[in-house]
Amino acid sequence: MRKIYTIALCAILGITDIQAKTKSTDDARTATITLQESRAETTISRHIYGHFSEHLGHCIYDGLWVGKDSEIPNIDGVRKDVFDALKQIRIPNLRWPGGCFADEYHWMDGIGQKRAKMVNTNWGYATEDNSFGTHEFLNMCELLGTEPYVCGNVGSGTVEEMSKWVEYMNSPNESPMTELRKQNGREEPWKVTFFAVGNESYGCGGNFTAEDYATAYRRYQTFCRNYNGGYLKKIASGPSVPEDYHWTETIMSRIPADMMWGLSLHYYTIPGPWEHKGSATEFTRDDFFRTMAYALNIENAIVKQDSVMSIYDPEKRVAMVVDEWGTWFDVEPGTNPGFLYQQNTMRDALVAALTLNIFNNHADRVRMANLAQVVNVLQSVILTNGSQIVLTPTYHVFDMYKVHQDAHLIPTTVETATITDGEWTLPQVNASASVDANGRMHLTIANLSPDKECQVSCPISSDYKIISQSQLLTAKNIADHNTFESPNNVHLSTFDKATLKKGALTFKMPAKSVVMIEMK
Ligand code: AHR
Repeated sequence: MRKIYTIALCAILGITDIQAKTKSTDDARTATITLQESRAETTISRHIYGHFSEHLGHCIYDGLWVGKDSEIPNIDGVRKDVFDALKQIRIPNLRWPGGCFADEYHWMDGIGQKRAKMVNTNWGYATEDNSFGTHEFLNMCELLGTEPYVCGNVGSGTVEEMSKWVEYMNSPNESPMTELRKQNGREEPWKVTFFAVGNESYGCGGNFTAEDYATAYRRYQTFCRNYNGGYLKKIASGPSVPEDYHWTETIMSRIPADMMWGLSLHYYTIPGPWEHKGSATEFTRDDFFRTMAYALNIENAIVKQDSVMSIYDPEKRVAMVVDEWGTWFDVEPGTNPGFLYQQNTMRDALVAALTLNIFNNHADRVRMANLAQVVNVLQSVILTNGSQIVLTPTYHVFDMYKVHQDAHLIPTTVETATITDGEWTLPQVNASASVDANGRMHLTIANLSPDKECQVSCPISSDYKIISQSQLLTAKNIADHNTFESPNNVHLSTFDKATLKKGALTFKMPAKSVVMIEMK
């Protein structure tokens, strides 16, 4: 299913036209960040910081959900430790129930007292007992204060089934669907705002051609009604690979903006052939550089897809929704290959930091994104094992970067030294900046070198001062990670090396690090 990503991404690796301006390699390791503070106009939607939870491996069961009768402390069945950790990073939205699972999910199996079992054919042929369904998911989102992003079934579901699901979740009117909801214990509608009409419809979501999907989308979305004055933000399935422009062009030309709030794009960083993607924790210097190169190329994908969207939508009414992104490595040895359980190192943290900087910098088009996936699957922010949890290095990046949510983007130019290894030459530093409603300015920077510090300077307009302790995430080794035995190997610390004098912010960034500086 995913082999095609790797091949296609290899094809675009040669393209480096979107990267930051680079200085030659081994002279002074410096970077200059220029901020256009007077042009802070675009809002960085908080929904860029969204997450994804699929019925896959131990993401839902044992990850988010243990059930009310579990000995593991829980709030109405949701793990308390995971709940608290997600609250801390202020997750703005959560996508569910898939992924590929969404297009074989029949929501009525997951409501009421008696629930039909099914086989999860996409993910390890595990038996799904449907004990976590619509009520459990939407109640959990309500508790978390996060917006639910529900993915509907186009591939194996009917228009009627999808229409009734939206009615069941959102309608306040008297009808058989709302009666059923009330019988199942929920009086008021939940008010779901984000709704995807299928997932990866070119592949696991039904193997549609772009033309056939555009026709199906128009029909399915017609019957996903707006209830109670609410506005359902409908999201169309995107292309199979970032450089499939035919898909994007077909969708954009055949579906008007008033039928489509957003168009999805999936981008995984898979630094090896599909059969051997490489270990999450044991990797060479070459693997590391390849991973950074793949991750950085998301910017090419965004810019090029945006340019196709802009032919039909120059005002950028339709959002680009990167609703699956992150690293994809081989599963941890001894674990079920269908469960996609992988560890998470300082390398993953750098991927997260640079990707979120790129999303911020393209906030005019990218208005939603979802890391794949929230717990125990792919580039998770949390891993669980029985009653234990571990916060991954990626978690700490989301913790640092939450300051950008709903702030105004400050356009940023980075002139940076490069880092070189074999065939790879990459920018050493990547950054983004924003100013929030209280006038606080935040700068987030990633130093992608595994072994070289970087002297960073950034002219700042007169009145700003560093107002609180800046944060640093780094590690002794690039493969360092947190384990259940040693959960704090990679952790946030205070960064007291930055000075702001006479309008010049300067600091030396350690190798393989992420820094957040707060000023007012
Ligand atoms: O995140 C894992 C899978 O990757 C999702 O189910 C699918 O949409 C994508 O191919």
